[in-house]
Amino acid sequence: MNEKKKVVLVGCGFVGMSFAYSLLISGGVDELVLIDVNKEKTIGEAMDLNHGLPYARQKMKIKAGDYSDCKDADIVVITAGATQKPGETRIDLTVTDTKIVKSVVSQTMESGFDGIFVVACNPVDVMTYVTQKVSGLPYHRVIGTGTLLDTARLRYFLSEFLEISTHNMHAYVMGEHGDTSFVPWTHAYLGSKKILKVCEERNITQEKLDEIYHDVQQAGYEIVNRKKSTYYGIGLALNQLIQTIFKDENRILTISCYQNGEYGYKGIYNGVPAVINRNGVQEMLELELNKTEQEQFIHSCQTLEHIIKTVVD
Ligand code: LAC
Repeated sequence: MNEKKKVVLVGCGFVGMSFAYSLLISGGVDELVLIDVNKEKTIGEAMDLNHGLPYARQKMKIKAGDYSDCKDADIVVITAGATQKPGETRIDLTVTDTKIVKSVVSQTMESGFDGIFVVACNPVDVMTYVTQKVSGLPYHRVIGTGTLLDTARLRYFLSEFLEISTHNMHAYVMGEHGDTSFVPWTHAYLGSKKILKVCEERNITQEKLDEIYHDVQQAGYEIVNRKKSTYYGIGLALNQLIQTIFKDENRILTISCYQNGEYGYKGIYNGVPAVINRNGVQEMLELELNKTEQEQFIHSCQTLEHIIKTVVD
């Protein structure tokens, strides 16, 4: 990591700029460079953010740039990609976004970039796989946002239902950021109490938990149907991931991480809880999944591998 904390953002659409804005509010980064196919837009976005600097927590150098700015960047964030339309799944974006990500990663690597990639375009597990393949960077330095947002949604819905702060909801979403994700309920805690035990005491059925998770899984679609795309939640999730890296926090986040057999599957990226610090992925948090949870994870991996084999490779 360089002294100066430098991030290059590739993709200045709603997701990218929601991330950029939350980064400006949080502080913690010394330089942000904006890259987009629409150069004029990057200039306008940099101007707009810079004019808010007097009211921001700390100075941040913000400019419109190009791929040569990636050379000394610590992190390159990729949000460039197609927007999911009503009725589309994230997997439907694979062909378009594979082309975009291959081009972005190749141009980034030509600069001599040797930092950490953070990938947020969909289908994010597949796009993270493509980023690692094209860049050749070590697996732990290519990270997808994975089920970061799904986990936040789960904690929000559980917090509303159980009337306990999200900060005391320790529950994860694992698997694909998409239709094959799942919740390992045997590892979900309210404070230090198992959520399954809380449900037993409050006569809350598994069906009710499954209903809550259905709302989590459908949330992205519900928002797209109403406002054409989602960006604030993912923007804040991206900011959390960047802050965790730069602050070297060793924080556990459910990101899209290279699978090397820890959960019985190898060779793809999928959403698991992992320890994140300035090196990127320090290690995976290996949960002892029960039979059903293990089957759900394997099913998710098989779904993603099928997409990779039939569409990407
Ligand atoms: C969502 C997008 C980021 O779930 O996939 O909102």
